[in-house]
Amino acid sequence: MFRAKGRTMMLIGLIGVISLIIGFSTFISLAAEGPDKRPSYSITKPPQSMDQYYPPQSQAPVYLLQMFELEGAFSGIMANMQQGNFEAAQGAYQGFLAKYKELSEMVPEWKDYFDMELVEALGEALQSGDPGRIQQTMGGVGQTCGSCHRDNMLGTWYRYAWKDFHEISVQDPVSQQEVGWKDYMYMVAGDFGGIGGALQQGQAEGARMAYQSLSSRMEGLKKACENCHESERLYYVSEDVMEILDTMGAELTKEKPNPAQIGELSGQLGMVSCRGCHLVHMPAAMVQEAWKE
Ligand code: HEC
Ligand code: HEC
Ligand code: HEC
Repeated sequence: MFRAKGRTMMLIGLIGVISLIIGFSTFISLAAEGPDKRPSYSITKPPQSMDQYYPPQSQAPVYLLQMFELEGAFSGIMANMQQGNFEAAQGAYQGFLAKYKELSEMVPEWKDYFDMELVEALGEALQSGDPGRIQQTMGGVGQTCGSCHRDNMLGTWYRYAWKDFHEISVQDPVSQQEVGWKDYMYMVAGDFGGIGGALQQGQAEGARMAYQSLSSRMEGLKKACENCHESERLYYVSEDVMEILDTMGAELTKEKPNPAQIGELSGQLGMVSCRGCHLVHMPAAMVQEAWKE
């Protein structure tokens, strides 16, 4: 009976540990910290010492690969505990201890996030076999992961996982020139607004011209995705989006295009293409801009 209860508690505890690693607050951390202490996240530029662990300075994203190994060892302890294999758990612990120590020395600015004493206490708890002690120290160690992730993971992603939008140039099919991403955006936005604007003044021909350049610039935008993506894009510049654009083009070939119809289609295009893509990509671009030297 005690064993069964101990194991259930352990499972609940382990779920808590996993969420602590990811950085979310759970009922376990809430119980410990109180509901008013919600964790906060920040997007901080990583210290320069991180550069050596990522391309172009290194061939692989070394720091990330180390994290996967650390995670593997940590989960190894948990998995073995769940199966009641205490000996194997202690073996996994040795691997974890070594990896944790190695990582604590990789980025001097982040050394304080690591708690070697706590990790040693985890080793002792595992030796004691006392589920309560194990759960508590595992949770504590998990919190050391979570606290660094909340402060530094997002910044690391924006710095190393994303290419910089400000270093990309786009081939403009209208002027045949290479322009920066943001300049290209203003050109697209100009065409986009130009259609409605011309129609409002009763200038159907002007609207058709703006549409022509919007249409080729949307094709250009599609190519520009290839700066970062290899696979075909399923959103924002995909067939369904281009169909809205085509419907707009068809309406504009009429002698008297219907401004309300064009307005409706523009709104759709703006939501499914421009805004959708902005929601995904602009946070990265904004952070990169703020960090520019
Ligand atoms: C990759 C997907 C993507 C698509 C599709 C896209 N944009 Fe953008 N847009 C961006 C990104 C990224 C930025 C930020 C660039 C920067 O800050 O350097 C941006 C910036 C802009 C800006 C400048 C805003 C500012 O405050 O800096 C305008 C205007 C704009 N886009 C208009 C449009 C319009 C209009 C469309 C649709 C016809 C569109 N964009 C489609 C990604 C996209
Ligand atoms: C000193 C800071 C720090 C500590 C402590 C830390 N991490 Fe990390 N971790 C990071 C950073 C930064 C990244 C993002 C790396 C990247 O994406 O290139 C990361 C990424 C990860 C990832 C990959 C997440 C993903 O979705 O790609 C895992 C898994 C991970 N860490 C596990 C752990 C575990 C388990 C611990 C504790 C035992 C831990 N980390 C402790 C900084 C830390
Ligand atoms: C500066 C680099 C960059 C450019 C340029 C860029 N993206 Fe992305 N995009 C990313 C990153 C990074 C992610 C995060 C997930 C990933 O890597 O796929 C992402 C995610 C996405 C996603 C969601 C995940 C997926 O793969 O389906 C879509 C959809 C997407 N981008 C569409 C586009 C489209 C359409 C364009 C061109 C108009 C574009 N992106 C241009 C970097 C970029």
